[in-house]
Amino acid sequence: MSLPQTIRIREIREDTHSIRTFVLDGEVSGAEPGQFVMVWLPGIDEKPMSIAHPAPLTVTVASVGPFTMKLHEKKVGDVIGWRGPYGRGFSLREDVPALLLGGGCGVGPMRFLATYAAERSIPVTVAIGARTESELACVGDFEALGVNLILTTDDGSRGHMGYVTQAISMFAADHQKFAVYACGPEPMLVAIHKLCREQGIPGQLSLERYMKCGFGVCGQCSLNGFLVCQDGPVFDAEQLDGLRDFGKTRRTATGRRLPLRNG
Ligand SMILES: Cc1cc2nc3c(=O)[nH]c(=O)nc-3n(C[C@H](O)[C@H](O)[C@H](O)COP(=O)(O)OP(=O)(O)OC[C@H]3O[C@@H](n4cnc5c(N)ncnc54)[C@H](O)[C@@H]3O)c2cc1C
Ligand code: FES
Repeated sequence: MSLPQTIRIREIREDTHSIRTFVLDGEVSGAEPGQFVMVWLPGIDEKPMSIAHPAPLTVTVASVGPFTMKLHEKKVGDVIGWRGPYGRGFSLREDVPALLLGGGCGVGPMRFLATYAAERSIPVTVAIGARTESELACVGDFEALGVNLILTTDDGSRGHMGYVTQAISMFAADHQKFAVYACGPEPMLVAIHKLCREQGIPGQLSLERYMKCGFGVCGQCSLNGFLVCQDGPVFDAEQLDGLRDFGKTRRTATGRRLPLRNG
């Protein structure tokens, strides 16, 4: 494990009404796309956040509860803590084009992966989905990277109307072989897992479970025999076959099992 380090906030970007990107004044060395850091607000809590960019260290955060609301109140120049990187990231295949699917704040790790793939000259298409146009996050970041972009909105206000999972069949119409990499709400991941397994498409999915230590000690993030912080958060689609809790239940801070919420 690494001890927390303090770091100053260099820049804050408002991506949507509930999602902000924090660019921090330092870097995380040796990080791979899909890995995460534990972000620490002294006196409040410590929570896992995916690395959206390693240098400078950047995280894209959705305001969903007490910790993330406090983080959203921070200003440029404020100091926060972090430790990491942790977890198993995406293992990018160099032999086939990459289709990256991101929903909600799941676009953060996709930004790191898209940059990583583009640097290795692997053809990348990024599909981002949201309920409506104003909730599509980080579109400008992907446009600046110059990757192919597919946008979907549930209400059709921008891009294709429907779910981001449609991008798989759209992409399959033009490509015989490709690999799928995804991060987003679990119902989206369940749909992607099903499509990948039915159609024989190699897929890697980034999962979330409640985390405390972040490096395999506390057991809080256990998922049917896996520790999500250590064996994941990125799993190969086949590893998720038949997992009892995938798409069905999550655990709270006390370890109580609850039905998974949609979204
Ligand atoms: C590997 C990983 C990477 C993540 N990356 C990002 C990211 O890049 N951007 C982002 O906005 N969010 C990310 N999350 C989710 C983020 O950690 C939670 O949304 C955040 O902890 C919520 O805390 P809260 O107090 O604001 O809200 P709460 O009201 O406490 O929780 C809101 C939701 O977040 C879940 N959650 C709360 N605490 C934790 C925790 N310690 N570990 C995991 N889930 C928790 C709850 O189960 C609930 O579903 C990631 C989670 C994991 C496991
Ligand atoms: S968060 Fe402690 S074992 Fe995974």
